[in-house]
Amino acid sequence: MSKFTTTAFYKSKKEGRKISVLTAYDYSMAKLLDEAGVDCILVGDSLGMVMLGYENTLKVTVDDMIHHTRAVARGAENSFVIADMPFLSYHISLEETLRNAGRLIQEGNAQGVKLEGGREIADRVAALVKAQIPVMGHLGLTPQSVNIFGGFKVQGKDVDQAKKILEDAKLLQEAGAFALVLECIPEKLARLITESIDIPTIGIGAGKHCDGQVLVIQDMLGMFSDFTPKFVKTYADVGSQIRAAVKEYCQELRDGNFPGPQHSFSIKESVLEKLY
Ligand code: KIV
Repeated sequence: MSKFTTTAFYKSKKEGRKISVLTAYDYSMAKLLDEAGVDCILVGDSLGMVMLGYENTLKVTVDDMIHHTRAVARGAENSFVIADMPFLSYHISLEETLRNAGRLIQEGNAQGVKLEGGREIADRVAALVKAQIPVMGHLGLTPQSVNIFGGFKVQGKDVDQAKKILEDAKLLQEAGAFALVLECIPEKLARLITESIDIPTIGIGAGKHCDGQVLVIQDMLGMFSDFTPKFVKTYADVGSQIRAAVKEYCQELRDGNFPGPQHSFSIKESVLEKLY
């Protein structure tokens, strides 16, 4: 198997082959996803919630992202690795945007970055692409705007909102984005956007017509129970398995059944005798 690339994103859309994306935040999970053949691993700033226990993504820093992206990149042999640019890392100036994205590539070993927003960040997307940094866009429910939206709500349900998202998708394509995440928008709007642009759309809560799908790994494995959005499908209840395994471990060591002889190391009696 060879490394998934930006070219493979375009080719997949052209050939009608769905693009698989999952989030990961550490080496061992990235390795499992890579071995399972996921096309792209997103080191999302959702790590603020699922890894760090924050209530939203706003506290995540560039250093947090670099730390986790580096670990993921070590485990991702074939999957394309994208790092989220966190809140305020691309809002202040073009120079700061380039420096922060550059750090995610140089220090984090990501192959691309993801930014949230449409027309208001199109100049930064263009500058990053000019600096040879692949950019994935993100429209619809962009979690860094939670305070503007007044909560995590479906976007694009009225004419003005839907028009803006459609226009923004075209603007991001023009700015050079190689793909777009569409989060929590009506299925038919996502379909229209997908049919209106040449770059692939990656949906999350945007229905089945997108060119690919992304889920947060902790959600699809039942490992995060603080809240579960409607669009999540739990593919395995690993959370319950972890709780059961930990319960059994605690019980076995209280009962003296772990560790057993097969988990212990021996020493020669002649050596031991000399210690008394
Ligand atoms: O931060 C994240 O994990 C994301 C995905 C949910 C698209 O942006």
